[in-house]
Amino acid sequence: MIKRLLAGAVGAGVLGGLGFLYYAWYPPIATIQPPAASSFSAEQIDRGRIVAAEGYCAECHTRTDNGGGPELAGDYKMETPFGAIYSSNITPDPEMGIGAWSEEALRRSLRYGVSRQGVHLIPAFPYDHFTKMTDQDISDLYAYLMTRPAVHMARRPNELPFPLSLRIFQAGWKLMFFTPGVYKPDPSMMRCGTVVPIWRKAMPIAAPVIRPAT
Ligand code: HEC
Repeated sequence: MIKRLLAGAVGAGVLGGLGFLYYAWYPPIATIQPPAASSFSAEQIDRGRIVAAEGYCAECHTRTDNGGGPELAGDYKMETPFGAIYSSNITPDPEMGIGAWSEEALRRSLRYGVSRQGVHLIPAFPYDHFTKMTDQDISDLYAYLMTRPAVHMARRPNELPFPLSLRIFQAGWKLMFFTPGVYKPDPSMMRCGTVVPIWRKAMPIAAPVIRPAT
């Protein structure tokens, strides 16, 4: 009887573990040649500039210590109770930045917090808010980012201790706290005919890390 109970518990544990691995696994998305700037319209790039400003992309993706850094090239240091985290280079450099990312790869990172390579991203990158962005906003943002100057610069490695440094832990966080999904306007919330998407209202999350104007 005890043997059977034990076997049942082990079996359930193994099944749960396999289920979690299935949940946590994302395939890499194929690299692309960085798209030509001429493949985006001026209006689209301009709309993307507004989305990027509302999402504080440059604030979190531009280094402020060590004498500052080039815009959007990452390496912005964020202190957390667990250790420092550094933001990624999101300029169109194909090696150091996101130049080899398709629009689909950018969309997946914003909606699900998973990099092009299939790696779980740390929620210091507020994808739990960006998940609400529309396809149009993400296309415009992609046009804007891909037409910025490419910067060949690496970020410092994160200083999270083991086992928090294991990316699979982020999938556990997602399982407990993260609900992906595009914002759906609720007509009952309409005022003067416009609805402000919740992810934009939610942006103050980035406020404590905004660098002071210099
Ligand atoms: C509150 C700070 C913060 C804001 C705001 C922010 N990011 Fe990030 N972002 C980060 C951090 C930190 C990482 C690195 C996460 C990690 O190492 O898992 C990151 C990672 C990323 C990545 C993954 C890059 C890679 O190589 O894996 C992309 C893409 C990205 N951010 C795009 C954006 C865009 C676009 C915006 C604006 C809409 C934005 N981020 C706004 C902090 C931020």
